[in-house]
Amino acid sequence: MTDRSTLKDHLAQQAVETGLSELLGLIAAACIDIRKVVSGGALAGVLGASGNVNVQDEEQKKLDVISNDILTEQLLASPLVAGVASEEMDNCQPATHDGGKYLVLFDPLDGSSNIDINAPVGTIFSVLAAPEGDITDVAFLQDGRQQLAAGYVLYGGQTMLVLTTGAGVAGFTLSLDGQWLLTHPEIRVTPDTKEFAINMSNQRHWAEGVQKYVAGCLAGAEGHRGKNFNMRWVAAMVADVHRIMMRGGVFLYPWDSREPNKPGKLRLMYEGNPMSFLVEQAGGKSTTDGRNAILDVTPTQLHQRVPVILGSANEIEEIARTCGV
Ligand code: AHG
Ligand code: MN
Ligand code: MN
Repeated sequence: MTDRSTLKDHLAQQAVETGLSELLGLIAAACIDIRKVVSGGALAGVLGASGNVNVQDEEQKKLDVISNDILTEQLLASPLVAGVASEEMDNCQPATHDGGKYLVLFDPLDGSSNIDINAPVGTIFSVLAAPEGDITDVAFLQDGRQQLAAGYVLYGGQTMLVLTTGAGVAGFTLSLDGQWLLTHPEIRVTPDTKEFAINMSNQRHWAEGVQKYVAGCLAGAEGHRGKNFNMRWVAAMVADVHRIMMRGGVFLYPWDSREPNKPGKLRLMYEGNPMSFLVEQAGGKSTTDGRNAILDVTPTQLHQRVPVILGSANEIEEIARTCGV
């Protein structure tokens, strides 16, 4: 027996409306099924490529497809859901029933390049209100401030669910008997940090401001920042953001000149927005370029990309100053 709150208790205690609470329970349950499939690894024959590419021209791994199917089937079976959309779908999938109140967007398996090396992966989700009428991609194009809830599940050493419904951020750990138990009631991102996360191999492609900011970190105690920095890059946004939730830091996947017409690598609707909502609810900041909040970006396409800079509030302000905005 444990005296910890379950996910359901916590949502009831926060007075989250019944439908939304039930939906979050369904998402969390689907993620337990994803956890089981990920754990099967080579024994379950789920490693490696699926042989297909997604609408963004990225190779799909078997687990991208399996995780997408789990979430899609389980969510569309619920009368609460009017439609779903994900990284691994060309277009949204409306429910076959009427009356669903919610839309759910997800990145079913984040950090796919980690699958075959048994490194951390995750699931990211965002919940929106369903508008009246037919559900098409346009119904999902709501700015990040409209999100009713957002969260991620990290399939790491422990399986953790980190969630916001707009009243702070809470973390739950999956117990061995399959319950989500509240272990991190009020997650706060520390305002100051000495840790940054960026894929350094892209350095030569970054804009000048990002070059200047990272150079300042690398110069350490001898440079103008006057302190030594540490660097981490897990290559799964869920794991990098989770580290920031636990001990502060900044995460950058900025615009770069490899494909100058692409605003960034990460996707607004199921990566940038849910993670920004979580980080802001935990007292951190999130921006495309130091000037504009990710949550204020007006979406025009389901799979639109966005530069992402988020994390400890004072360090994000330092980045904004360094980038000259
Ligand atoms: P996904 O596996 O869902 O496509 O997302 C991968 C993303 C993100 O999780 C991570 O931060 C980033 O891509 C890593 O990119 P690099 O391989 O360019 O470092
Ligand atoms: Mn991703
Ligand atoms: Mn993914």
